Amino acid sequence: MSDASKKDKITKKDKTMDKAIEKGDFIEIGEILHGKKTGSVSLRGWLAHKRSSGGIQFIILRDPSGFIQCTLSKDIDPKVFDEIEALPIESVIAIDGEARADKRAPSGHEVSIKKVDILFKAEPDWPIVKKKHGPEFLLDKRHLWLRSDKMQAMLRVRSKLIEIARQWLLEHGYIEFQSPIFITAACEGGSTLFPVEYFGRQAYLTQSWQLHAEAAISSIGKIFTLAPSFRAEKSRTRRHLAEYWHLEAEEPFCDLEGTMKMQEQFVSHICQHLAKEMPEQLKLFGRDPKEMLAVKHPLQRITYDEAIEIIKKGGGDIKWGDDLTWVHEKILTKKHKVPFFVYKYPKGVKAFYHMPDPKDPRVTLSADLMAPEGYGELTGGGQRIHDFKQMMKRLKEEKLDPKAYEWYIDLRKWGSVPHSGFGMGIERMLMWILKLEHIRDAIAFPRTLTRHYP
Ligand code: 4AD
Ligand code: MG
Repeated sequence: MSDASKKDKITKKDKTMDKAIEKGDFIEIGEILHGKKTGSVSLRGWLAHKRSSGGIQFIILRDPSGFIQCTLSKDIDPKVFDEIEALPIESVIAIDGEARADKRAPSGHEVSIKKVDILFKAEPDWPIVKKKHGPEFLLDKRHLWLRSDKMQAMLRVRSKLIEIARQWLLEHGYIEFQSPIFITAACEGGSTLFPVEYFGRQAYLTQSWQLHAEAAISSIGKIFTLAPSFRAEKSRTRRHLAEYWHLEAEEPFCDLEGTMKMQEQFVSHICQHLAKEMPEQLKLFGRDPKEMLAVKHPLQRITYDEAIEIIKKGGGDIKWGDDLTWVHEKILTKKHKVPFFVYKYPKGVKAFYHMPDPKDPRVTLSADLMAPEGYGELTGGGQRIHDFKQMMKRLKEEKLDPKAYEWYIDLRKWGSVPHSGFGMGIERMLMWILKLEHIRDAIAFPRTLTRHYP
């Protein structure tokens, strides 16, 4: 092909694409699926699947709102028919046609095509073929696998969950506040810090917004954030990411009881609304929306001491003072149907900032919210030490260098009040709500011990 004719072909294709972008009368597939539109329609989308039978092609067209079966008859135009027959999966087409309800079609609706334009001809070798692929292959091809129905549904539920959460927080007077990602000292223990070189000095990626949030509550009061947190988790588990989205809240004049009350209202609100707004997506994952409607505050509370006894009775190998691993939490939560709190963990398993219980200094005024059905920890939080001397004592006990926490300690010198807060892993919430086997399927591009591609 000469350069001139090559150019001609490209311009021609681009012109069709321009038309598709400019044309105002395209509707979304979802409008047909929800019965809002029948009769004459224009659609544009990706060719998800096709087969031929007896002079008719059955094309499954996908757009961001859904999938629909379209039929193309050879009678319309044999040349176009052959072109479409040869068109690879994930090509993009625009169609004009007649939409109608049809019980035989996979989605209960069908469009018979009157006119079709090819907007983008895909390469012939779409890598995700029908045969079952292993999880690693699909993770390597995540940039393409995102188009699958389950990934689509997860991304929609994820967005809705965040929308509901943010709305509730704003309506309840929490102000959104951002803290730095580059930090100089650990919030949640040194073993999971990600070191980074910072202009010749040592810095780390943040594990939590909390320490800086404690500075901001004396300025603007009740606050929240949604930001990535980083954990160099060296163990391979189904519920740990190296980078996850962390929803955190912090509140002055608030004790352990206060944060547990707030969390149970907040979490039940999220569950109720997801059940009402996303029932179809939940069902796709085998989650009955009724199970989410059953999450109502107040939620049950059990002490750490009680939790240890339950885990022991359930066959878990644990003694008082041990942290709860995911194996323990699995035993603890498997018979529960809705989330519940475990509170008053021993000092030894919680970070330095947790307030020791004045009634029993062996334990802290801390609480984790547990997801039921074997999923385990959803949130971690509690009341913080607000007293200067007590903070210095705890830093010393934990063998942490007060110099590294100088600015944080300062907060205990001027106007320090009882305050509490918590952090919730967005992917942990999704993992439970969507009954996922692995946390990596609750985020578009997971970062784990073994993966930071694509
Ligand atoms: O329990 P964590 O470590 O608590 C904190 O970071 C507190 N500073 C939060 C606060 O009080 N503001 O983490 C909080 C939550 C956990 O309950 C879990 O849901 C999630 O963050 N999380 C993770 N999610 C995915 N991958 C990981 N590696 C996670 N580590 C914690
Ligand atoms: Mg925790």
